[in-house]
Amino acid sequence: MKRFSMIIISVMLLFSLAAAVCAAESAYTDVSDSDWYAGAVKELQTEGIMNGVGNNRFDPNGIFTRAQLATVLYRLAGEPAVSGEDGFSDTKSGTWYSDAVLWASKGGIVNGYGNGKFGTNDPTTQEQLAVMLWRSAGSYVLGSAYADPDGVENSASNWAFDAVRWARVDGLLTDAIPFEPTKPATRAQVADMVSRYLQLLERFSDPDAVSGATSQSDAGGRILVAYFSCTGNTEKVAGYVAEALDVSAYEIVPETPYTSADLNYSDSSTRAAREQNNPNARPGISGKVENMDQYDIIFLGYPIWWGQAPKIMYTFVESYDLSGKTIVPFCTSGSSGIGSSAVNLSKSAPDAEWLSGNRFSGSATKESVAKWIDGLGLEPGVD
Ligand SMILES: Cc1cc2nc3c(=O)[nH]c(=O)nc-3n(C[C@H](O)[C@H](O)[C@H](O)COP(=O)(O)O)c2cc1C
Repeated sequence: MKRFSMIIISVMLLFSLAAAVCAAESAYTDVSDSDWYAGAVKELQTEGIMNGVGNNRFDPNGIFTRAQLATVLYRLAGEPAVSGEDGFSDTKSGTWYSDAVLWASKGGIVNGYGNGKFGTNDPTTQEQLAVMLWRSAGSYVLGSAYADPDGVENSASNWAFDAVRWARVDGLLTDAIPFEPTKPATRAQVADMVSRYLQLLERFSDPDAVSGATSQSDAGGRILVAYFSCTGNTEKVAGYVAEALDVSAYEIVPETPYTSADLNYSDSSTRAAREQNNPNARPGISGKVENMDQYDIIFLGYPIWWGQAPKIMYTFVESYDLSGKTIVPFCTSGSSGIGSSAVNLSKSAPDAEWLSGNRFSGSATKESVAKWIDGLGLEPGVD
């Protein structure tokens, strides 16, 4: 079976630490080790992702508000700095949830009810929970691989249909309790699904990916370094990658260049935001890689846009038959890690072998990039 490889450092850390405490007694008086959600509760508590309700209680059957869920997802994303307004009439700035809701609204993870309200203190329904996790994962476009024999999603609202199908097929939504889309998710259910979401990300992680790269190099292989860059950071890093490998870099050029207004990430109506929020957006690319067949290894560079690869990267990946090729993703960002961006992108080329990705800051040095390349074990000059 094809192996997808992706190091998601925060997730790995989470799991290694969680493993260390696995045997610990539950800290909550109302969660016993035999409860179906006990492992998830412990894991999320240990990492400070989801806490109890006080007095050593977790309240597994209690509700979880929409603001609380936004906060959990924000913590999972590493709590990046945010600025601006969330635009909702029922949220207050300067509260425990305001950064989280602002982040989630900017990233299209929450849209509110459409009447200007977020529903801050409303219970999160089961289908809303699926939708918010699905959007956090990058709003996968569901191909035929996502066939749900049980059709659980058929009971969900139209806007939640794809998310519920994804959650079911990818194992986030189990038979532990019956799925009742419009009923409030219990706190136990939230913990269970969030924990399974992390496991899904981990399934794409592979700490052995480096040795995989070595053997690929030993077999020989022509290398392509392809990148997309709007403000020059990824271009610079791609240049360092290409230099270290002694190949030239190929720029993915949009048919319609991005203006600075298109890239204004404080405005959710800009071109970049609209594209990122539209699962079907595939911005056009000018030009093509000649003879893609000749390449065995493709370094793929992109900036992080709201935690994900820009949609033009999906256009690129879907424009070629990448079966059997090895793909090494890398990205630049202000502060976010590579997160789920490459995992999600890999779904557009499932027959390629995706190795561990790496995130660089805009000020990455030639030396730091060369060190990463060295660590991969590839031999320079094999084009
Ligand atoms: C539309 C947009 C969204 C962004 N979203 C994020 C983000 O979620 N996290 C982050 O750390 N940086 C984010 N950034 C910053 C870019 O990832 C960062 O500046 C990157 O290095 C730009 O690469 P480039 O110069 O190759 O275009 C965003 C930038 C833009 C333009």
